[in-house]
Amino acid sequence: MYPELRGKHALVTGAARGFGRAIAWRLAREGVKVVVNYRRSMTEAGKVVEEIKSEGGWAIPIRADIGKEESLDRMFEEIKKELGFLDILVANAAFGVPGRMLEATPHYWEVTMASSARSLLSMTQRMIPLMRDNWGRIISISSDGGQKVIPGYGVVGPAKAALESITRGLAYELAGKGVLVNGVLAGLADTKSSRSIPGADKILEHAKFHTPAGRIVDGEDIARVVAFLASNEAQMICGQFIVVDGGRSIVG
Ligand SMILES: NC(=O)c1ccc[n+]([C@@H]2O[C@H](COP(=O)([O-])OP(=O)(O)OC[C@H]3O[C@@H](n4cnc5c(N)ncnc54)[C@H](OP(=O)(O)O)[C@@H]3O)[C@@H](O)[C@H]2O)c1
Repeated sequence: MYPELRGKHALVTGAARGFGRAIAWRLAREGVKVVVNYRRSMTEAGKVVEEIKSEGGWAIPIRADIGKEESLDRMFEEIKKELGFLDILVANAAFGVPGRMLEATPHYWEVTMASSARSLLSMTQRMIPLMRDNWGRIISISSDGGQKVIPGYGVVGPAKAALESITRGLAYELAGKGVLVNGVLAGLADTKSSRSIPGADKILEHAKFHTPAGRIVDGEDIARVVAFLASNEAQMICGQFIVVDGGRSIVG
């Protein structure tokens, strides 16, 4: 547990399910007031909020498509109204249509880049005026698709590469202002998004078999590292991605 997080305010994007849900839960258990962002999964987001509240935590759902600037404007207005300040941003949500890269249309490229990469910059720009006390944390969630080819990943790979680059750029520009910007590079997990990749069953089984830790990661594995990166223990980590994959990437 990280007592310095108590009373902080966080926005977790895509927090209705998967990694985002686990991250929202973990931060709420640290005493953080959490905005549970969702785009379509209203019922699931409501459930996450109710569950956090039933444990004595604080959470509100806010609907926004993070790939749309006007939707971000509305979300940050609401955050200002409801919370006044924002200390922690977890850029977790990503969107992409699975398939071959060669089949990606310009529209698909734009939408994927906007929601999975540009949104980190757009949200950070809106967050800065809401920060307080020379203290902030911005944490992005990437995958090894930013550095390697994942068959069927479409243009999510290029979006993740851009996300990682934006993370480093923001880390550089904000380091002197008490704002730490880092990321988690997550291994393959069994979530709705990984299930949408063609041949998911085989891919997940293969990953499990080749992971030295003997299992693939889950949301809580990611959430633990997000909490660490949000804590003051991470204060000299700047612009880095921590790989959380049970050792999968060290095996050839
Ligand atoms: N699962 C894996 O194996 C894996 C591995 C490495 C990295 N990652 C990364 O981890 C993050 C979370 O993945 P996950 O597997 O937990 O995904 P998931 O269970 O499919 O959840 C993704 C969430 O993102 C939200 N989302 C998508 N587009 C959005 C948009 N434009 N605006 C707002 N919210 C949006 C969805 O919200 P709605 O349902 O409300 O639309 C959904 O709740 C992603 O960045 C992913 O790339 C995942």
